[in-house]
Amino acid sequence: MRESILVVDDEAGVRSSLAGILGDEGYVVETVESGEACLQALEGRRYDLILLDVWLPKMDGLETLSRLRAIDAEVPVIVISGHGSIETAVKAVRIGAQDFVEKPLSLDKTLLVVRNALRQRRLEKENRALKEQVEHRFTMVGESAAIAALRAEIAQAAPSNGRVLIFGENGTGKELVARNIHLQSLRAQGPFVEVNCAAIPEELIESELFGHAKGAFTGALAARKGKFELADGGTLFLDEVGDMSLKTQAKVLRALQEQRIEPVGGAASVQVDVRVIAATNKRLEDEIRRGHFREDLYFRLNVIPFHAPPLRERREDIPLLVRHFVAELSKEYGRRPKEITADAMTALAGLPWPGNVRELRNIVERVVIMTPGERIEARHIPVPLLGIAAASAETSAAGPVDDFPSLADAREDFEKRYIWKKYQECGGNMSRTAEALSVERSNLYRKMKGYGLIPTRRGEAQEA
Ligand SMILES: Nc1ncnc2c1ncn2[C@@H]1O[C@H](COP(=O)(O)OP(=O)(O)OP(=O)(O)O)[C@@H](O)[C@H]1O
Ligand SMILES: [Mg+2]
Repeated sequence: MRESILVVDDEAGVRSSLAGILGDEGYVVETVESGEACLQALEGRRYDLILLDVWLPKMDGLETLSRLRAIDAEVPVIVISGHGSIETAVKAVRIGAQDFVEKPLSLDKTLLVVRNALRQRRLEKENRALKEQVEHRFTMVGESAAIAALRAEIAQAAPSNGRVLIFGENGTGKELVARNIHLQSLRAQGPFVEVNCAAIPEELIESELFGHAKGAFTGALAARKGKFELADGGTLFLDEVGDMSLKTQAKVLRALQEQRIEPVGGAASVQVDVRVIAATNKRLEDEIRRGHFREDLYFRLNVIPFHAPPLRERREDIPLLVRHFVAELSKEYGRRPKEITADAMTALAGLPWPGNVRELRNIVERVVIMTPGERIEARHIPVPLLGIAAASAETSAAGPVDDFPSLADAREDFEKRYIWKKYQECGGNMSRTAEALSVERSNLYRKMKGYGLIPTRRGEAQEA
């Protein structure tokens, strides 16, 4: 899109020459001859830049500048100063003009100043958009007691330099906790570097963490910095820390004790200033008992323990999370946010959510993409029951036969899926589902509640 410039000058010659050269440069230019006309123009539309003469007949440039800020607080203003009005131009810059040019105008100089001002404005805009995106991405949504407590703990622990160990099931938001601690810490301006200890092959993890010298091993064509060094001055997030081998654990322990690292095949060790946040979905106490995790490393990492609560213990957050994800994902896909019916919300809030928030987000993503209309209804929601693929749930009995501890468990699993499938087909209507299944409605309701297919509070209120 072409950028727009408003020229404010009482001299017709200046107006027309500026309109000419700026127009040739591809800008959309409008001109007015007074401060009053400038303010009036701003009431009607926004410009990307204003060129403002300081010496104007009635309302002068300085006054115009301070008044226009009330209308548009952000538009960059370049002041045009006449002979002997440099003082005023300087004053203008002090009260918020971006820059100034002097009369008689050098066209080259003017163009340069205009280009610079516009580029800076673009960068600032981009920067703000990115920041908002990041902030939105790492917003912790939820009003449950568990999340409120978590937030308070983060605020308390973040400014300290203490090591943090985050426990939590898959998809409960462990990384989100780590990011929030970093963002609220004194290291927020520093890097946040993540290492997934489970995803890196054993033979590579050392060089990944500590870096390596050129020629340290076959394929090490150039020296490479490790994650510890990359995180210098910031935070290193050791994800899935329970999956490190004992050998790597010993090295990490040393690095933590000494705040120094030794690159693979390198002579000199390197001093680093890193705060370590670790996360795991394993019970490290059990791993220690089994001899899979070093106790000394555990104590070193676990200075401040955190627990990311599973979604099933805070179902009241589900509607908030759903709305948050619908807004975020709709934006990402360039669509208008869809409305979600109360039934759909009820259905979502009742699912068991073995995959926690990550699973919820995936489902919302799928629904946002797949729902044709403007409304998301209960029947649009696929069944992620107990992590069994929705596809197998849709074909119910034809699904794969899982291993169940007993016949009762297997029967229960089938019943749950079957009821859910019918419930969806009936548009989330309890009475119609009962009819379709030839069971008493109250009986069906009890079963669904027992299976966690209905949230207790809302369900009762609705079905009473
Ligand atoms: N309270 C929350 N508010 C908003 N989004 C959340 C919340 N908790 C988790 N999420 C989102 O859910 C997804 C999973 O979160 P995250 O990656 O932090 O979890 P995790 O515990 O590290 O998962 P995994 O075990 O899979 O590594 C992310 O998209 C994250 O933004
Ligand atoms: Mg994670």
